[in-house]
Amino acid sequence: MSTTPFISVRDLSIGYGDRVVQQGLNFDIHKNDIFFVIGGSGCGKTTLLKHMIGLIAPSKGEILYEGVNYYDSDDETQLTLLQNWGITYQSGALFSSMTLAENVALPLQLYTDLSEKQIAETVAYKLALVGLAGYETFYPAEVSGGMHKRAGLARAIALDPELLFFDEPSAGLDPISSLRLDQLIVQICKALDSTVIIVSHELPSILSIGTNCVFLDAQAKTMLDAGDPKHLLHHSPQEKVRQFLSRAGTAETER
Ligand SMILES: Nc1ncnc2c1ncn2[C@@H]1O[C@H](COP(=O)(O)OP(=O)(O)OP(=O)(O)O)[C@@H](O)[C@H]1O
Ligand SMILES: [Mg+2]
Repeated sequence: MSTTPFISVRDLSIGYGDRVVQQGLNFDIHKNDIFFVIGGSGCGKTTLLKHMIGLIAPSKGEILYEGVNYYDSDDETQLTLLQNWGITYQSGALFSSMTLAENVALPLQLYTDLSEKQIAETVAYKLALVGLAGYETFYPAEVSGGMHKRAGLARAIALDPELLFFDEPSAGLDPISSLRLDQLIVQICKALDSTVIIVSHELPSILSIGTNCVFLDAQAKTMLDAGDPKHLLHHSPQEKVRQFLSRAGTAETER
């Protein structure tokens, strides 16, 4: 694994207008990491993601993608970065009036010069990768919640992104579907040589597939620790982090 950070977050403040949600964030994400953003409800995990995917400019500090600051870049550089990012939203956010295949085809039609035949082949391949071969002509309302999430993932990987963002990918899934989704994320990360950033509360996911993480604290309005969650579970100097990862302090940290 390369030691040069793929993403560097430096003295970052995040929030909305004058409202600071988190400050003093400093951490690195390495290529091929499965990086979790963790912490209690309302601490700012989704807010951090919004800053990382180009939706909200930080009020202070910077996020560097292989040395490039999205917010300081020209339109062309921003578009190149955006095309290398796959984003799946909590709800899946598929277009309900379009079939699964049409949903996955959309980014390919918008951003590539592929022919209709090539697009159809790519769509079939991506749907097969997430275990949805044969469901091309189904509408989002005609598939289960877990299939909906996997179709959202197929759309997010349509352009072979080098960076994939997920906000609570397994929320609302049963433990088995959640485990399958974790395995799928690892498999896709390997197949596409991608780096993954996941917001999640799911301890089994965090501890089984996470290679790196940052813990945000709502009270302190800053990160308490960062690193491999399996290591932090026993060795974080912050009791709150150890408690969170062992579920011991759940009631207190999620208030
Ligand atoms: N659009 C907004 N404008 C102003 N404040 C907001 C906005 N969205 C969220 N917040 C506030 O920012 C803080 C962090 O919210 P955020 O959604 O990032 O938390 P979270 O860690 O993702 O929580 P959860 O685990 O419940 O999803 C909260 O206090 C929330 O009220
Ligand atoms: Mg959230």
